[in-house]
Amino acid sequence: MSTQKLTAEVLRRMKSVTPIPMLTAYTTPVARCLENAGVAVILVGDTVGMVEMGFDSTRHVTIAHMQYHIGAVRRGAPNTHIIGDFPYEADRDPATALRNARLMLEAGADSVKLEGPKYDVISHLVKNGIDVVGHTGLTPQTSTNFKQVGKEAAEAERIVNEAVGIEKAGAYMLVLEHIPERLAEKITHTVKIPTIGIGAGKECDGQVLVINDAIGMGDKWPPFSRQYAHVSKTITEAAETFVSQVKGRSY
Ligand code: KIV
Repeated sequence: MSTQKLTAEVLRRMKSVTPIPMLTAYTTPVARCLENAGVAVILVGDTVGMVEMGFDSTRHVTIAHMQYHIGAVRRGAPNTHIIGDFPYEADRDPATALRNARLMLEAGADSVKLEGPKYDVISHLVKNGIDVVGHTGLTPQTSTNFKQVGKEAAEAERIVNEAVGIEKAGAYMLVLEHIPERLAEKITHTVKIPTIGIGAGKECDGQVLVINDAIGMGDKWPPFSRQYAHVSKTITEAAETFVSQVKGRSY
């Protein structure tokens, strides 16, 4: 099935109307599958560093890596809205962020995403005509672990305030990562832009998963991620069969 490419404005208007399914992708064949499956939005996340490049943190990802993967995803999914994720420090100030956002758009992204309360960066990008997705809750580029955040009242309040600030700065959509369902529900009812949850419960306006987690590619996955397939197992079994056929001279 071929999907119609959604603009940021259309995605914004989908809030409370129809849930938004989003998955990450980093390569052409996977992007092609997601487009054929009718996934509304593909996020080329900086998770690429951990799930595809073998780094122990997303902080090693560069803008050149992102350009490479965004290009690959665009070639696989020409009709799907693609979000390019800012790698660590590539959004450190408004001018740097604008330069790097343009590189991601040139590579094939339709909009960009950045982590945390960088209100001046968001508003500078928006003023320059770039559609921006915010990201609060757990923000892996700066957090020291992957535990749920927002359980304490003060932290929950900080996250709500960040969500409101990100919306005011001009973001058209907001990722909420690994926070309690009730907090995600409160934010979803507070802001007018769609919230996309990852480990944030069912009450968000959409859901995103890292594709490798969703297809069981790898050996460990976050507790909130469902595995809809077991691709690592399939590849291992296929390789084992090949090895045994070659060794047995039956191939
Ligand atoms: O980089 C990424 O894949 C993300 C998702 C976890 C939302 O930011």
